Amino acid sequence: MDSLKITGGTPLEGEVRISGAKNATLPILAATLLANGPVSIANVPHLRDVTTIIELLGHMGAAVTIGERMRIEVNPTTLRHCRAPYELVRTMRASILVLGPLLSRFGQAEVSLPGGCAIGSRPVDLHVAGLKALGADIHVENGYIQARAERLRGARLVLDTVTVTGTENLMMAAALADGETIIENAAREPEVVDLAAFLNAMGAGVTGAGTDTIVIAGVEALHGTDYAVLPDRIEAGTYLVAGAITSGLVRVKGVRPEHLDAVLIKLRASGADIVIGEDWIELDMRGRRPRSVDVRTAPYPAFPTDMQAQFAALNVIADGVGTIVETVFENRFMHILELQRMGANIRLQGNTAVIRGVDHLTGAPVMATDLRASASLVLAGLVAEGDTTVRRIYHIDRGYECIEEKLELLGARIERVSG
Ligand code: EPU
Repeated sequence: MDSLKITGGTPLEGEVRISGAKNATLPILAATLLANGPVSIANVPHLRDVTTIIELLGHMGAAVTIGERMRIEVNPTTLRHCRAPYELVRTMRASILVLGPLLSRFGQAEVSLPGGCAIGSRPVDLHVAGLKALGADIHVENGYIQARAERLRGARLVLDTVTVTGTENLMMAAALADGETIIENAAREPEVVDLAAFLNAMGAGVTGAGTDTIVIAGVEALHGTDYAVLPDRIEAGTYLVAGAITSGLVRVKGVRPEHLDAVLIKLRASGADIVIGEDWIELDMRGRRPRSVDVRTAPYPAFPTDMQAQFAALNVIADGVGTIVETVFENRFMHILELQRMGANIRLQGNTAVIRGVDHLTGAPVMATDLRASASLVLAGLVAEGDTTVRRIYHIDRGYECIEEKLELLGARIERVSG
């Protein structure tokens, strides 16, 4: 199993190009199932989770071609069956995203229930309740969601909790439904907006994405198209924190700065100078120690849960006391115990971590069981004295394209160690 060996202490300096967004790519690749012809997707990041969803599409019989620079072409018309097996779903919860498209395009779906996961119980009850309200007949048998429908019917859906993939699944299902669907309390994440734009490029009638009310006018069929995925705001945010934590100067290129508003507010509060261009952001923390910041996660446009662990790492070496409150997931603090092993001073109380900054961390062997927690350990390793070995980096490979190459370009001392 690969690990990353990091020798800390170098302020990062330079620029890094941001990849396509994982959490937009996954629903968009699932949505290709809705088309009645080939679809071509560009700016796809080369990530483990993307490979998993491609594998899933291929497993069901879709013809998938991977072209130059990860341009993915999917022809869903060759589909042989509508079954997403446990073996694939258990490695990636987002596989649930094929449920809506399969049901709405092929009238049936058999998708394994994802089960437990490292960051909490994460049920899919809202996906299922929404599809039922659209007229699907759904029950759970042998660990699988069994769903059938002649043709889904538009309905008004009020989501009890803001759910990103839930909103996406229902939007995809409603795209081919008979009549109009209204999703109230919809997720407003940029990735939801990107999926809506992709559906519209295939001929769908989605309006309101980016607000909490999305209206979908169902159409008879969706056609193939060419589309490029939006840049990854979480990857961009992570590299900016890497600049801040090492007291460096980092410019992220190829981003949509407006998607990082909440993160930039906190980086400025930590003392960073931030300059924003049309598609780039530059962070300058040279010559000073970051200040602690208070962070409370919530759905977009508030501070993203996917940046919580990285800010925990920043607070660990910052000046002062900062609190981190996690309100989206009930168990997303796996990084805390590992950071403590590197010398962090953190008190954990329920969904709140109170972090008193220390003036140095020491390198240690560490590991984490989810993607963003692992990223926070890499960040801590960049600033720790001596060597840090981050194990189980297959989690990082799920969401950060070429992380060691990109960090190396910024001057980090980092290497991938096999075995
Ligand atoms: N929830 C329910 N019932 C449901 C669905 C969700 O109770 O049917 C609850 C969850 O348990 C959670 C809250 O609603 O407490 C929000 O979860 P959400 O459904 O929004 O999360 P998700 O769609 O499973 C996506 C991202 C996550 C990101 C969250 C929150 C993808 C593929 N995943 O997950 O990304 O943390 O939204 O923004 O889009 C990551 O990239 O590291 C990652 C975990």
